[in-house]
Amino acid sequence: MTQDELKQAVGRAALEYVPDNCIVGVGTGSTANYFIDALATMKGRIQGAVSSSEASVARLKSHGIAVFELNTVDRLPVYVDGADEINRQLQMIKGGGAALTREKIVAAVAEQFICIADESKLVDVLGKFPLPVEVIPMARSYVARQLVKLGGHPAYRDGVITDNGNIILDVHGLKISEANKLESQINEIVGVVTNGLFAHRRADVLLLGTSKGVQVLK
Ligand code: 5RP
Repeated sequence: MTQDELKQAVGRAALEYVPDNCIVGVGTGSTANYFIDALATMKGRIQGAVSSSEASVARLKSHGIAVFELNTVDRLPVYVDGADEINRQLQMIKGGGAALTREKIVAAVAEQFICIADESKLVDVLGKFPLPVEVIPMARSYVARQLVKLGGHPAYRDGVITDNGNIILDVHGLKISEANKLESQINEIVGVVTNGLFAHRRADVLLLGTSKGVQVLK
């Protein structure tokens, strides 16, 4: 199977975790797009979705799925999203699509986080994928210097402005053994909006697309 077929398979498999009549939290990226397309097949059975990005809002609306503002929603039983890397503790690096802050907010509200990923995303140690950090533009150089002190090599993601009007620094060269600690340390730097480590709020379930089928890890 191709990587796209694996992504499509996990996108479809995630439908099992969507209760009838609920509002669904929806992530961002190519794997999440397959989930949105699958969700369209059961749109009559849900109230609608809360989205983690403007790109996903557009895709949801193109399928005729109602999109709610998070502030108007009391509870989200489930959030479905992809990842750039995930380990066996279900801690993740996210933000390759620059949507990390809204993803982290929607994930925080959700009762269950279902990560959907093809097998290339499963790693023993997080950090080969550069860690995205969303930064207030005027703090860019200061934050970059602080990230160097933490052992990373930050690179400015040229030409990218987030949905929140901020910039992204991608931090290379990290071998992340204590993900909870590093997530907190980076978030303490003044000027950081958030970073792409999802360790405090890890996934509850990983649906992993493999050539042998969709594996479920908890
Ligand atoms: C976007 C994300 C995505 O979930 C992550 O980049 C994975 O994307 P894809 O499914 O396209 O590989 O965090 O900010």
